[in-house]
This record gives sequence, structure tokens and C-alpha cells, in this order.
Amino acid sequence: MERWAGRVAVVTGASSGIGAAIAQELVKKGLKVVGLARRVERVEELANSLESASGKLYSLKCDVSKESDVREAFKWVKSNLGGINILVNNAGVCDFNTLTDGPVQKWRNIIDINVLGLSICTKEALEIMNEKGVNDGHIIHINSITGHGTPFNFYMYSASKHAVTALTEGLRRELVKKNSKIRVTSISPGSVLTELGEASGIPKEVLEDFKDNPFLEAKDVADCILYVLGTPPHVQIHELTIKPVGEPM
Ligand SMILES: NC(=O)c1ccc[n+]([C@@H]2O[C@H](COP(=O)([O-])OP(=O)(O)OC[C@H]3O[C@@H](n4cnc5c(N)ncnc54)[C@H](OP(=O)(O)O)[C@@H]3O)[C@@H](O)[C@H]2O)c1
Repeated sequence: MERWAGRVAVVTGASSGIGAAIAQELVKKGLKVVGLARRVERVEELANSLESASGKLYSLKCDVSKESDVREAFKWVKSNLGGINILVNNAGVCDFNTLTDGPVQKWRNIIDINVLGLSICTKEALEIMNEKGVNDGHIIHINSITGHGTPFNFYMYSASKHAVTALTEGLRRELVKKNSKIRVTSISPGSVLTELGEASGIPKEVLEDFKDNPFLEAKDVADCILYVLGTPPHVQIHELTIKPVGEPM
């Protein structure tokens, strides 16, 4: 990880759960981290708690489903920090809904954030990397085990994460064609104890089904990020699946 100290990482959805843990671990490793979220005050609080770390956390308000917000955020990163070396596309929602009833607005929200938000952030980051001649950058998508099968009955969420699987391989191939050394990785966690269930408005009776299941901690996923970043520049971890021991799915 030493080679990343002093370099710039953008982490989307840094106000909670996995994104907050990733931002924290990267700051501890000496990186300049820009944490994007709508609840920017939570990123600011995290930044204050990390003041004695070797790196620094910057907070920026950004709704990744709004292209103008994303453009502004990356413009800020370029002007104030000189470029970007790592993008962690973590922001995501699950939103409880069904395929038979919708509501359609919830489907749209999932796709706007989990698929289009991730894609727009990726495009913006790559543009800056290319402009600044960063040829050893790293794009990391926080996917899910639901991006490789349908273990839970959150089907639109699962569809959005299957899209992330396709986008990971698609981006890898496009980068190879361009002879780029920028790496792309998908990290697919099983169940992680975060605010996702609550934030998704999942009914209590549905959450009950999970109550006896084992969970990972957000830091376990952050450790995966440190691992994939820490591999030598010629190594690309394409897909990393992490489950809690005993996960039934
Ligand atoms: N928890 C799990 O079991 C699990 C398993 C596999 C994969 N994942 C994936 O891990 C990622 C993080 O989820 P989590 O479990 O840490 O959930 P979480 O605690 O609810 O965190 C979600 C994060 O995404 C951000 N976010 C949501 N909508 C956004 C938007 N429109 N613009 C910007 N940021 C937005 C939230 O920030 P604001 O609300 O402040 O904007 C928050 O920081 C997601 O992609 C999720 O699909 C989670």
C-alpha cells in the first residue's frame, strides 16, 4: 500500500457503512480521500475523527444520481487535489419493491444510483486520469453476491448488481483495447451489517428472515480494498467475493 500514500482516492457513499469504513482505512494509509454523499455532515464528522491520521478526508456533497452533481464533484477534485488515482464506486441503495407491483419510481432510483451513478462517476474519473496521464489508476466497484445470482428476493437490486458485473468486464476490455494499465475490480460481499436494510425501507417481517444470519463488518470489506490495491501494478484482482462464515446463501 505504501505506493498509494499521498495519492487521491474518491469514495462514493462515504457517509455510512462500507463506504465510511473504506474512506477511514484509506486515510489511515496516508491517502487524500474525497468522500462523496448526500449526508455530507456525516462525512465531515468522520473527517474530524481522522485528524491525527497520516492522510486526509475531504467531504463533498454529491448525489451520484445527478449528473451535474457528479461533474461538479470531480471538477472540484481536479482543481483542488490535482487529479485522481483511485475511484471506489460504493454508493448504493436496495429499496424494497417487487417486480409485480413496483413502484416504478423505486426501480428507477436503484438503477439511477447503482448503475448510472456508478457509470457516470467512472467516466468522470477516467477522463481526469487520462488528462493527467495517470496510467496506474484503479477503479473499484462495490458489487454484491446478488450480482452473480439471485440469493435474496430483491430482484431489481439484484439486476442492478448484475449490471455492475457486466460493467466491470466491459470496462476491463475497453481499457485493454486502449492499452491502458488502469485496473478495474469488482468486490462482491455477502451480508454486511450496515444501515442498508433500514435505509432501503425493507419491512420488519422481511428483515426478520435475516436475523439469525451471520454478518460481515464494514471493515472486512475495507480490508478487501486494501488487499486489491496492495497487489503489484501488473496484477488485477478482477472479482473478489467475501462472505461471512456460515452464510446460508
Ligand atoms: N450491506 C450489505 O449487506 C451489502 C452487501 C453487498 C453489497 N453491498 C453494497 O455496498 C454498498 C454500500 O452499502 P452499505 O451496506 O454500506 O449501505 P449504507 O450503510 O446504507 O450506505 C450506503 C451509502 O450510499 C450512499 N448513497 C446512497 N444513495 C446515494 C446517492 N444518490 N448519492 C450519493 N450517495 C448515495 C449513502 O449516502 P447518503 O445517503 O448520505 O447519500 C451511504 O453513504 C452498496 O453499493 C451496497 O449495494 C452491501
